[in-house]
Amino acid sequence: MAENIHTQFHRFVSPEEKEALLGQSGVVLWMYGLSGSGKSTIAAALERKLHDQGRFVVILDGDNFRHGLNSDLGFSDQDRKENVRRVSEVARMFASQGIIVLVSVITPKQALRDQARKIVGSSFREIFIKASYETCAKRDPKGLYAKVAAGEIKQFTGKDSGFEEPSSPDLLIDTESVDPSSAVEMIKTLLPE
Ligand SMILES: Nc1ncnc2c1ncn2[C@@H]1O[C@H](COP(=O)(O)OP(=O)(O)OP(=O)(O)O)[C@@H](O)[C@H]1O
Ligand SMILES: [Mg+2]
Repeated sequence: MAENIHTQFHRFVSPEEKEALLGQSGVVLWMYGLSGSGKSTIAAALERKLHDQGRFVVILDGDNFRHGLNSDLGFSDQDRKENVRRVSEVARMFASQGIIVLVSVITPKQALRDQARKIVGSSFREIFIKASYETCAKRDPKGLYAKVAAGEIKQFTGKDSGFEEPSSPDLLIDTESVDPSSAVEMIKTLLPE
């Protein structure tokens, strides 16, 4: 299908020049975990901190994608895969132009994380934002867990759609014991110099 489409490589401004202008290296910090584990909360705190330190950051949040670019997708295995593929492609484009990309998407299966890493390449860092189902249900910032308990939501991650814990993430943050500002400091250690 894409055989007659040629990737555009001719540039007047190289990726290296963009990184020099920004004073940073492009990277994708991919945060994943159950709904309510703290991905968006930590991404927002990290964006604030890095911005205040003169870094240029873009957040790619799963919810925002699902309202816009990915509004045609649901929560079947196939749609979750396509959701991750599109977010990965966008993340790769930004990172390859010097931007620090913070991704917050549930990404429940190892195969999905592997797919994202494959698309993004060497600038990919995976960060497991960990909290138990029970803790997330207690926090329930969006009221989703209450709806699941009432049988109003199907294919919910951790309930009737599985979440595979990773065996070797680049970083694991247990938000039952690590507060957001400490999480920010931990994630900052993954940034390339
Ligand atoms: N240590 C912590 N780190 C992050 N969030 C925490 C922590 N302790 C409590 N919280 C609370 O947990 C909730 C996490 O919600 P948040 O929207 O960040 O989750 P999420 O992982 O982005 O979920 P979703 O996948 O539904 O978008 C917030 O209400 C936040 O205040
Ligand atoms: Mg979120």
